Amino acid sequence: MTQDDAKHAVAQRAVEFVESGMRVGLGTGTTSTMFIRALAEQVQRGLKIRCVASSDASHHLGLSLGMDVTTLDELPELDIYVDGADEVCVQDAGLNLIKGGGAALLREKIVASAAKRFLVVVDSSKVVAQLGAFPLPVEVIKMALPLVRPRLAALGLEPKLRMKKDGSGPLHTDEDNYILDCMCGAIPDPAAIAAAIRAIVGVVEHGLFLHMSNLALVAGDDGVRELHG
Ligand code: 5RP
Repeated sequence: MTQDDAKHAVAQRAVEFVESGMRVGLGTGTTSTMFIRALAEQVQRGLKIRCVASSDASHHLGLSLGMDVTTLDELPELDIYVDGADEVCVQDAGLNLIKGGGAALLREKIVASAAKRFLVVVDSSKVVAQLGAFPLPVEVIKMALPLVRPRLAALGLEPKLRMKKDGSGPLHTDEDNYILDCMCGAIPDPAAIAAAIRAIVGVVEHGLFLHMSNLALVAGDDGVRELHG
């Protein structure tokens, strides 16, 4: 099974967790895009749902597929949020994640926190024994960059400003901030590093999602399995 096949399989399975009448949070990234497309097919067949998206891209994708996508102003409480992750780890009787590979971590955390349930959808390459091989994204207010970067480095992280894919300059998030991708190495105590990063003035959010979900759907050669935290 290729990684794309796995993403497709897990996206299809996640649709089964959505029932008519639900308020659904839409994630961001390639797996979430497959989920949104699969969900839109059910909407076309009569599934009645309302959605809030965690990025401009997912918002516009949903609308373009005929879905009812609105904002947290109208729907401040959601039944379920479905999104991918860059790393998933079962730790301290819960699931810990690194997210933000698609630069949407701030809105993703906001929308996830509005939902009663956060269903993580990943291919098996994302499941790790310890977080930290994937660079941890940290969203930073632009004017604070010269202050935040050395303070992250002083924590032993190696912050690197994320650039646009075409190299034309720094990437701006949907909320018009910068992203610093931090090489951490293994993160044995995610709560401690999350608190230390959060304490730096000018940091808006970081990509550690700690105990925000207790269920991941994981697709691999053996099919789609449930990973409980
Ligand atoms: C975007 C994210 C994504 O969910 C994460 O990067 C996984 O993406 P993909 O499904 O494309 O592998 O956090 O900010």
